[in-house]
Amino acid sequence: MKPAVVAEIEPLRAVVAEARRKGQTIGLVPTMGALHDGHRSLIEAARGRNDFVVVSIFVNPTQFGPNEDLQRYPRPLATDLELCRQAGVDLVFHPRPEVVYPPDYRSYVEVTGLQDVLCGASRPGHFRGVATVVLKLFHLVQPDRAYFGQKDAQQVRIVQQMVKDLNVPVEVCVCPTVRETDGLALSSRNAYLDAGERRLATVVYRTLIEARRSIEGGERSAAAIRERMRERIGAAPGAVVDYAAVVDAETLCEATEIEPGRPLLLALAVKFGGTRLIDNLLIP
Ligand code: PAF
Repeated sequence: MKPAVVAEIEPLRAVVAEARRKGQTIGLVPTMGALHDGHRSLIEAARGRNDFVVVSIFVNPTQFGPNEDLQRYPRPLATDLELCRQAGVDLVFHPRPEVVYPPDYRSYVEVTGLQDVLCGASRPGHFRGVATVVLKLFHLVQPDRAYFGQKDAQQVRIVQQMVKDLNVPVEVCVCPTVRETDGLALSSRNAYLDAGERRLATVVYRTLIEARRSIEGGERSAAAIRERMRERIGAAPGAVVDYAAVVDAETLCEATEIEPGRPLLLALAVKFGGTRLIDNLLIP
């Protein structure tokens, strides 16, 4: 069955309230559209544990910097709705920007510290926009559970921290990164890559795998791992490292020594032409 699509807040609240009245649990999958199999896996996870599944499709302007790709971000609504239909979504919330941010809008959420490192260092304001829109979606939908992909590891940490700090009654569910057969993490921005860049882009995941192998092989210096990741990416023609990080998985602070039992995040952001890709591996 086709999901219902609503663009305004009142009908959204009404449809969700009706599901609640029937005693149904609500799962929310927040997205910016351009849906792919990574989103499908989030929807399937939501479908598996909730009675009523809401997907939001909203290209959130506040998480884009002035020179970023807000205008050209893909918006293939018809194919997105078809994926939602196939995946058994009950309701799609697809608001216009002014519904989410009316002209007199003034309130923003900041998750200090976590928002300023890694992607936050090269995309100032990005996570303020993410945290703000996610909290708004949590208030609007009031889901029991919300689903995010591990590919956006920093976003996940920020949403978890916000939920904890602000006592938001939502269970944050994190789903594994979905990859192409050659390892490239699925991302809506992969569509920007030309054929050559697409071939090159596999270096990102290979570099992460090699870094993990060297930790498993006994390497204890985070600086050495960082350096090796940088060299490996730097050797790929046309690939430019934004960051190559080995950080504490919880605080996102740079690690110095790799200590067994202390969860780490290996994270990369790499530019191929005008396209910036991110990927990561969690070392439990
Ligand atoms: O991961 C995304 O697509 C976005 O950052 C999110 C969580 C939908 C907020 O706009």
